[in-house]
Amino acid sequence: MTGSNFSGFAQSCRDRVEQQLNASFTEGDDPTRLRSAMRYSLFNGGKRVRPILAYASALAINPQQNLELIDPIACALECLHSYSLVHDDLPAMDDDDLRRGKPTCHIAYNEATAILAGDGLQTLAFDYLTRTDLGPSTQIKLIKTLVWGSGAEGMVLGQAIDLAAVNQQLSLDQLENMHRHKTGALIRASVRMGALAAGAGMQQLSDLDNYASAIGLAFQVQDDILDVTADTITLGKQQGADIAHNKPTYVSLLGLDAAREKAQKLYEDAIQSLHTFDDSANHLRHLAAYIVGRAY
Ligand code: IPE
Ligand code: IPE
Ligand code: MG
Ligand code: MG
Ligand code: MG
Repeated sequence: MTGSNFSGFAQSCRDRVEQQLNASFTEGDDPTRLRSAMRYSLFNGGKRVRPILAYASALAINPQQNLELIDPIACALECLHSYSLVHDDLPAMDDDDLRRGKPTCHIAYNEATAILAGDGLQTLAFDYLTRTDLGPSTQIKLIKTLVWGSGAEGMVLGQAIDLAAVNQQLSLDQLENMHRHKTGALIRASVRMGALAAGAGMQQLSDLDNYASAIGLAFQVQDDILDVTADTITLGKQQGADIAHNKPTYVSLLGLDAAREKAQKLYEDAIQSLHTFDDSANHLRHLAAYIVGRAY
């Protein structure tokens, strides 16, 4: 693959999104520590995969894309994702005490503050979408895409399926459906939003959606694998949490080797979906490799 310095690109995306997010959290009165809890949950070493996907997707459509127009989308995606993690870690959900190498929000603050910090991050995400300079028609499409990816048809539905699946035996189809919702939907939304902002046509949106569906599922398959194979320090979250909570995962259903084969197959599907794109999609190709090869 040529024409892509992926690690430099990924770091420049992280720098962009962190600089923009930082600007939303200037020092000021915070008597309830709500804003402090929101900030704590955003600036704690996340990989920023969803923002990077949005930037890369926009560049696949238009290599000359002005990335300033994508910044609010990237911020919206990271706020939404960070909220999902804060709530995912709550005692009523996964009851985890470590996230991105630090105490989870409800441990560092308290449970009520963590619930509210998640709520605040979620609404901040949509506020960012009101700041896009792309015209009302594109703006509405972006909002609807984020609603679809994150709401009761997407991530939130997936989380509900996940909680209902504790101590249950799922079929492979049911497991795939859960993963496609809880993790895949927001990843699909990330790719679509970048592409919409860059003016993608119907066929391009469809090809990119095939790519995003494959890497969205692969992302959670790799998350399941790392829960078993990585260590707590590297992961920044408790290793073995899925087993401890008796959650069905790709590893518990298929075993480690078959889970790895599944991730590899999805990677190949993702690359195949990009066959009509030239080098402008190389960042997306590298991202697919990164998602299945990542160590944390
Ligand atoms: C973790 O997401 C939760 C899942 C959807 C599997 P990430 O692995 O993207 O977490 P951060 O943002 O890098 O911490
Ligand atoms: C999380 O899935 C999906 C979300 C919507 C946050 P997990 O519960 O497996 O994520 P981790 O392992 O806690 O990051
Ligand atoms: Mg969970
Ligand atoms: Mg969890
Ligand atoms: Mg997990």
